[in-house]
Amino acid sequence: MKKLSNLFLATAALLFAFAIVSCSKSKNNTPTPVKATLYDTLGGNVMVADPAHAGKMIEKGRLAIRSVIDSTIFVIAGDTRINGHFTVLLGEVTKGNLSGFTELSDNLTTFVAVGTGAKDYQYTGLSMTAAHDPAQNPRMNGKASSADFDAFVSDVVTGATKNGVPTSIIGSLGKIIVSLKAQVVQK
Ligand code: HEM
Repeated sequence: MKKLSNLFLATAALLFAFAIVSCSKSKNNTPTPVKATLYDTLGGNVMVADPAHAGKMIEKGRLAIRSVIDSTIFVIAGDTRINGHFTVLLGEVTKGNLSGFTELSDNLTTFVAVGTGAKDYQYTGLSMTAAHDPAQNPRMNGKASSADFDAFVSDVVTGATKNGVPTSIIGSLGKIIVSLKAQVVQK
């Protein structure tokens, strides 16, 4: 099983341990603040109906992230600046094969969920370095440049905006994404 980078986890922890969600009483009856994560801010582990799978439930935070991820994949698919890197995926989807899309959506959603503080999932996909190295991941068509990375970030912002994610949260997500640039950009 591959691990998320320590840098990512450390950055995510620092970035998102900021909001107070619940209190417990200390000896002198002073409420002790408990820090909430960005995942909590996105809805956390409250179970809601999964609109994509009738009869199934999903954590509200995961659903919010998956919605952004799926929108972003569609934005990327139409973005000629970077869609050339996704030829394997787009070739499959064009033929009606959604297996790669479903796996990518799931992996990306879990990656972001864990990075924002989700406790109920474990990311088992490729490391960020391996995922973006064509020699290790044949689904990555060519190495990404700095300009590709910037285009990717703008597509994530578009995907998040389409889903009504508040600007402040988009800013926090952006900081996480930028912290991974050195692993993703390999040329
Ligand atoms: C910080 C930004 C990024 C993050 C967090 C990220 C994350 C991921 C993750 C989690 C995967 C799935 C790995 C797996 O299947 O095990 C993936 C795959 C991939 N990423 Fe990224 N990525 C980022 C930026 C980019 C950029 C800038 C490009 C190119 C412009 C890119 C192109 C790809 C491609 C082509 C794949 C394979 C897609 C497929 O399965 O068909 N990524 N990425």
